Amino acid sequence: MTVIGTGYLGATHAICMAVLGYEVLGVDVDPRKVEALASGAVPFYEPGLPEKLTEALESGRLRFTTSFDEAAAFGDVHFVCVGTPQAPGSHAADLRYVESAFAELAKRIDRKALLIGKSTVPIGTAERLTEMVHGLSPIGQELELAWNPEFLREGFAVKDTLHPDRLVFGVASAWAEAQLRAAFSPILEAGTPLVVADLASAELVKVAANSFLATKISYINAMAEVCEATGADVQVLAQALGYDDRIGSRFLKPGLGFGGGCLPKDIRAFKHRAEELGVGQAVAFLGEVDAINTRRRTRTVDLVRELAGGSLKGVRVAALGAAFKPNSDDVRDAPALDVARLLYLEEASVVVYDPEANENAHKAYPDLDYADSLAEAVSGAQVVVLLTEWQQFRDADPEHLGALVANRAVVDGRHALDADRYRAAGWEYRALGRPTASTTVRLVEHESDSVALTLS
Ligand SMILES: NC(=O)c1ccc[n+]([C@@H]2O[C@H](COP(=O)([O-])OP(=O)(O)OC[C@H]3O[C@@H](n4cnc5c(N)ncnc54)[C@H](O)[C@@H]3O)[C@@H](O)[C@H]2O)c1
Repeated sequence: MTVIGTGYLGATHAICMAVLGYEVLGVDVDPRKVEALASGAVPFYEPGLPEKLTEALESGRLRFTTSFDEAAAFGDVHFVCVGTPQAPGSHAADLRYVESAFAELAKRIDRKALLIGKSTVPIGTAERLTEMVHGLSPIGQELELAWNPEFLREGFAVKDTLHPDRLVFGVASAWAEAQLRAAFSPILEAGTPLVVADLASAELVKVAANSFLATKISYINAMAEVCEATGADVQVLAQALGYDDRIGSRFLKPGLGFGGGCLPKDIRAFKHRAEELGVGQAVAFLGEVDAINTRRRTRTVDLVRELAGGSLKGVRVAALGAAFKPNSDDVRDAPALDVARLLYLEEASVVVYDPEANENAHKAYPDLDYADSLAEAVSGAQVVVLLTEWQQFRDADPEHLGALVANRAVVDGRHALDADRYRAAGWEYRALGRPTASTTVRLVEHESDSVALTLS
């Protein structure tokens, strides 16, 4: 099999498939990525993946190339995993990379093969690409197309790839289904539930799942806004709601909300596509979900400003976290960096520290200052704001941090710190949706939901 596009999704897929025993050729247009992977280096932070890459390379079953000629000659099935970012100046998905990858393969493949899209795309894309592929291919309709949406979460990518909750095969023929079954046989044999669907349903599963999860996060954050206006405590509320089996506690965790390279752009593209299809009203609520999520960022800045005494000008703020969630160095649409940027725009002196994402953050926001350690970041800070809930920040000792800061004031943007411990150590502690003097409430923690919980 080939895997076209070896970013987060594609590299993980290629590596795991080779570990499972398949002969895999990874293809990317970025020669630096190809070189790094071929030399055994994963170009992003993903726990457990470097070890799997070593294992796969040592098995001799995994290679990388930039050549589509080589890919077309090599594969019986081709997984397309290229990016589908938000289009510039629009909420639509930018499909140029997907179109280019399918076209480059279609022009070259000269024996019966299956092209499988894994990228997240607007509904109707697979059908449109099928026509394009048939038009370009020297073997016409012998070149088939299927869609196999991917649900892996960064930070849990290896586990999610090898042991997914379910597999979804969007197919147009029994032959395509058989190819997909063969391509995932070890995972299916392990008892993984499989849903075989038409192409449109397969495309829709992915965006519908992300929309549901985004809605659940924004729902509790909307309740946080109501709490802020009434003196109620959103943590108490989340705890009480979560005990209801019909609601459940997962993703019902208030805070700074979701970000990353998938969720925000996926719900926007879904809404955009639904409008094109004439069913915009059905998902109009996703606009609210997005707006609630974005408001959490400005509201976090409000809390920092309040703790700073009303103005941020010249105030030294330690911004803890830059990645869109812990266990990742991905800063695409990261709420943490957005907050840091907003603080900077109000002329705060912001020092950012993230255990893994400083380098990517610096590339995205070179104007911000970056520290090399937690201690360096908080030294002399007038306000500390927790923006990404890395374990290191959860575990930090409030007494120890208190000795380093200029002023014991903390905004807990992720509801991740022990409010009672911080207050006992003389800190002024604030969190979104919580009254000023509220005590710690233990929300159920699912490590894999770490926020904003995760997904993609
Ligand atoms: N990252 C995730 O956790 C995740 C999870 C599920 C689904 N997805 C979806 O998977 C897709 C890829 O996401 P990602 O996060 O891996 O993106 P990414 O930006 O990390 O990787 C995309 C890769 O595709 C390469 N590429 C671009 N055009 C190419 C072409 N024509 N031929 C070959 N390679 C090409 C890029 O160089 C890059 O390495 C997106 O649709 C995304 O929504 C991502």
